Amino acid sequence: MTRIIQLADIHFGTENPVALEAFEATIKELEPDALAVCGDLTQRGKRSEFADARDWLDRFDIPRLVVAGNHDTPLLNIYERVVSPFERHDSYFEDLSGPVELEGAYLIGMNTSRGWQTRKNWAEGSVNLEDLESVIAEAEGPASHGKAVFLICHHPFLSPPEAPMRTATRRGRRASRRLAQSPVGFLLTGHVHAPSVTVVDDEAKSYVAVSSGTLSTRIRTRPASFNLIELKQEACDVTVYNLHGDRFVPEKPHKLSPEYNHAEPHVTAAAGPYEGSKS
Ligand SMILES: [Fe+2]
Repeated sequence: MTRIIQLADIHFGTENPVALEAFEATIKELEPDALAVCGDLTQRGKRSEFADARDWLDRFDIPRLVVAGNHDTPLLNIYERVVSPFERHDSYFEDLSGPVELEGAYLIGMNTSRGWQTRKNWAEGSVNLEDLESVIAEAEGPASHGKAVFLICHHPFLSPPEAPMRTATRRGRRASRRLAQSPVGFLLTGHVHAPSVTVVDDEAKSYVAVSSGTLSTRIRTRPASFNLIELKQEACDVTVYNLHGDRFVPEKPHKLSPEYNHAEPHVTAAAGPYEGSKS
């Protein structure tokens, strides 16, 4: 069995010390094979916040994959945001940019965050379709053969149906269709600060979109949480761990079979109410 812990939106600067301490205790019990960190490690993209995030992640002596979130660019330094938005992030985390190869899984990271955009809300995601093709080429390559392939990003491609906020990831719908038709089986994301498991269908093919909650104090409608993903022979369990007091408590697992004949919500990448892209 392969066990991956998915966490997101730690937001050092507004981190939740109780959640971080409880996470450390829980991870010792769960003994995961890897950590997938889905962006927003900092609140304002400050060097001190990146340093704290790195120190904390270095407490876990297992493979880790880290991608940047929209908060991981200098908040007030417009020059840096335009010219080199993720230089700071990369100086702390480039060695954790993946891929991560495990016995049963192959993890690839892709940046969907931007320092600035030609639209009002710079916090929204944007998929570079060439980047996505590189990911898919890697997923089709020999290194990931016979393994479950995970794509790690900050922004969901389509707005998660149960999330407390709507997202509008650029080229999200096209990216979603492409992902469903590719060997990538899972898209792990953060940003919305709420956990969810959704099957995204496109013409009889699909992928599983898994959103993680936050480990920060910036909670919206749900408590601080993270996800445990367990890959078994023919199935996969996704379990949300919620912070209750000073410890994490698991919810009933989402049980995913290869046929997806389970109770998770299905959304379609081709049409429907969950439009995630305006372009
Ligand atoms: Fe975010």
